[in-house]
Amino acid sequence: MSTPDPTDVHPAWLPDEAWRAIGVRRILVRGEGTLVDTVQAEVERATHRYGGAVWRNPTDVDLPSADLVLALTGAPPPDSPPAPEPGPPETSGTLASTAVATAKAQLDTATAQVGESLGAEGFVVARHAGVTVVLADAPAGLLYGLFELVRLGAAGFGPTHPVRVHRPAMARRMLDHWDNVDVHPVMGQVERGYAGGSIFWRDGRPRGDVARVTAYARLLAACGINAVSVNNVNVHATEAQLLTERLDDVAELADLLRPYAIRVHLAVTFAAPVVLGGLPTADPLDPAVRDWWAETTARVYARIPDFGGYLVKADSEGQPGPFSYGRDHADGANLLAEALAPYGGVVHWRAFVYNHRQDWRDRSTDRARAAYDHFAPLDGRFRDNVIVQVKHGPMDFQTREPVSPVIAAMPGTRLAVEFQVTQEYTGQQRHVCYLAPWWSEILRFAPWGDDGRTVADVAADGGGLVAVSNVGDDRFWTGHPLAQANLYAFGRLCWNPRLGPQAVLDEWIDLTFAPDTRVDPDLLRRTLHEIMDDSWRTYERYTAPLGVGFMVRPGHHYGPDVDGYEYTPWGTYHFADRDGVGVDRTRATGTGFTGQYPPPFAERYESVETCPDELLLFFHHVPYGHLLHSGSTVIQHIYDTHFEGVREVEAMCRRWEWLARLVDPAVHARVTERLAEQLRCAREWRDQVNAYFHRKSGIPDAHSRMLH
Ligand code: GCU
Repeated sequence: MSTPDPTDVHPAWLPDEAWRAIGVRRILVRGEGTLVDTVQAEVERATHRYGGAVWRNPTDVDLPSADLVLALTGAPPPDSPPAPEPGPPETSGTLASTAVATAKAQLDTATAQVGESLGAEGFVVARHAGVTVVLADAPAGLLYGLFELVRLGAAGFGPTHPVRVHRPAMARRMLDHWDNVDVHPVMGQVERGYAGGSIFWRDGRPRGDVARVTAYARLLAACGINAVSVNNVNVHATEAQLLTERLDDVAELADLLRPYAIRVHLAVTFAAPVVLGGLPTADPLDPAVRDWWAETTARVYARIPDFGGYLVKADSEGQPGPFSYGRDHADGANLLAEALAPYGGVVHWRAFVYNHRQDWRDRSTDRARAAYDHFAPLDGRFRDNVIVQVKHGPMDFQTREPVSPVIAAMPGTRLAVEFQVTQEYTGQQRHVCYLAPWWSEILRFAPWGDDGRTVADVAADGGGLVAVSNVGDDRFWTGHPLAQANLYAFGRLCWNPRLGPQAVLDEWIDLTFAPDTRVDPDLLRRTLHEIMDDSWRTYERYTAPLGVGFMVRPGHHYGPDVDGYEYTPWGTYHFADRDGVGVDRTRATGTGFTGQYPPPFAERYESVETCPDELLLFFHHVPYGHLLHSGSTVIQHIYDTHFEGVREVEAMCRRWEWLARLVDPAVHARVTERLAEQLRCAREWRDQVNAYFHRKSGIPDAHSRMLH
């Protein structure tokens, strides 16, 4: 395998051009520490390119003039010039001093009003008398403040404006890499990876690609990510050793990510005391097992003092767990949490636990119920440093699912909500599918009713947001260049879940296709919005209808196969027959899953009258002639949306052609190639789904279109 030329890697949302507004400034950097060093290195790189200048902690003797100050609030004032003689004009140095003093005073007023300080990661940006000031209480805040300035571009140096306080909504903003160290015979180097190999590992060894990992760390910091788990949640033999004899490999990655305020986490196997420690058991209540975890964890922290913690997939899809010893998941999670506690580490314990060996004839078992059934009864039993990590839906990252009821069921537990940026079920980075509108809907969902807390509130008060990464060693990072927007948007929504998905897309467009290099910025922006804004709904239209899910090819999960999972052990059924389709999950006649929700939704989902159309087949088995709120019947909806979805992809292809002279030819060519595949695949979905339901139901299309 040849090593890609690192200089050939696409800059994503940090092209040089995005630094122009900063690079032309005269910049003071105030503060000490690794992250302040990073800030300095970043602005130096920009000023070398664009002609500005940087001073770090200048003394008043060599007082420079400045029009940008990046300072820690605890650092000495940016300059202490002698009192100006009456008469001569004010120097830029004193302007900088005044601007910082003003910003500080405004900051004090603002924080007194909200009763909160900036915290470990917050910052303020202010502009006064021609000087832009970024202040932070702690170094990470200064780094995030710098990247906010990159986002602002020229607007960060416009008219005077008062302090704007920025603080992340979520303390934890994490990406999980499902990267294998060894190439797995079925799953490859990256499980569910659609962007080439791993940027961390290759063929059983660390890649040692310092440039690539550093570039990645910059991109992540620039969108706000602060934690990365570096190996697959399915921990195979080689990967298990990262915890012990191959810990140096993890430490190397930690060294590269640390300068960008990113902590390293590790997926570990629950059977580690047996497979690594040679103990006869991994029983969480066994004292020898507890000692083993304590000693092993002490060694991890001796090597990586800022190690984030463990990530565990237990008793799930063949991974070992506490059930083998007759213990529950609180016992299992608390065991690891106890070992991590002395060092401030956390265990992310996944709630993705279900029976994947179900008999399809058994109608009483409902996979959607599983996470709640296993975890809700354990609420209140987890230690403080356990974060129960819950997939956002009750099934498995489908194009449409209701919000997982677990999120509303564990008030006494820290919960993290897990998304999937890698597009396993949403087109595998061959289809354009901008996922931020979907995530945004989920984050704003209020399980207790409109006046209650939202999913974002639960995550913010608990363990934050986590997502499965979509990055690989592909030169565009994500295979499909437009899939970069999903990674960027995930980070930004972690920082501020109230951001609108279209506003986030604007940020991404402005950074990635820096305006100064664009021939026709408005046309580019408009066209990208036309292609991407609704692309998730377009994808939904031509795939599985009305929330029923799956219908994908088993195994690799790409392309249509309506009955592919229908008679398998995975619990992912649609129950289509000649009369109707959908899963009855009601309390009255079905699996009772609706009863896992708080009252407003337990009622809303229970009744076909009030269940939202887009989730109808998730909750109900209905006849094909059932009338939706939209006014269409279920069968006509299936036909119509599948024709519509393909038409929308055809329109995407035409629109992208218009951009031929407006974007980098390599980006244009890659997207063109992917769109051709998307169109082919969308037609296949349309024809298979329509033909399937036409043949089952015998009901013709009201518009007499070809159904095959
Ligand atoms: C899905 C996916 C697996 C993955 C699992 C998980 O089932 O297909 O590859 O391991 O999710 O989230 O653990």
